[in-house]
Amino acid sequence: MLESAKDMLEKAVKGHYAVAQININNLEWTKAVLLTAQELNSPVILGVSEGAGKYMTGFKTVQAMVEAMMGELKITVPVATHLDHGSYEGCLKCIEAGFTSIMFDGSHYPIDENVAKTKELVAICREKGMSIEAEVGSIGGEEDGVIGRGECADPNECKRIADLGVDMLAAGIGNIHGKYPANWEGLSFETLDAIQKLTGDKPLVLHGGTGIPDDMIKKAIDLGVAKINVNTECQLSFAAGTRKYIEEGKDLEGKGYDPRKLLKPGTDAIMQTVREKMELFGSVGKA
Ligand code: 13P
Repeated sequence: MLESAKDMLEKAVKGHYAVAQININNLEWTKAVLLTAQELNSPVILGVSEGAGKYMTGFKTVQAMVEAMMGELKITVPVATHLDHGSYEGCLKCIEAGFTSIMFDGSHYPIDENVAKTKELVAICREKGMSIEAEVGSIGGEEDGVIGRGECADPNECKRIADLGVDMLAAGIGNIHGKYPANWEGLSFETLDAIQKLTGDKPLVLHGGTGIPDDMIKKAIDLGVAKINVNTECQLSFAAGTRKYIEEGKDLEGKGYDPRKLLKPGTDAIMQTVREKMELFGSVGKA
């Protein structure tokens, strides 16, 4: 069922597991994620960045595609359509398009401005029955041209934002989008612990899920992380699956150039990555 992320995350906090946010890029991606969530009886959040939304011709197209696909594929597990790292304007567009959830990323604003803008969007989301994620302390790395340094959030600022009534809170704890550099120092559990102590059972979000070692993921879930975002890892698996098909010359055999055949190995590879993440995050069977 298409719904906001509120209930799925509250259940995840109580059940000590995390729901995966898997970012989508096109029809194949969406189909792969929905079918895997259904196969594993797991809730899932479909992340859509502003760039991916634009690529798919707009948020309305994305919402219509997800709704239609869920009907055609008979998807019954809880699914949310969620804007990833939204600007204020992007959030308004997704609200209008019928998304069930948004993330407002005001982390690059001074904290008072982040608070003011988040507060306005919380009020709109309440009225529409949508869930909202906010961010404090920017996540490192580059995503869709937005470059963050990967700072650790100030727990007191996290409390201010959490108290506005957001449904989930993304706080920088040394995590980075994309691949982690060899000299990465790891997640700051000290920061996460301090944030969790001040924000109580507010679902916390871990961005940059690609490449974080399994033991760190598990520890983060123990400390209150209830949503983990994965984007790059599916892109890498899709690219590797497609590369293998072409390097083996399969596109040149018979009708191997048929896009339905050409895109299948990459799509299967996304499904495998999503399976591994849902198993690691503990959301299998939790729909
Ligand atoms: P990765 O691309 O590192 O998996 O991060 C995804 C993410 O945090 C989306 O917001």
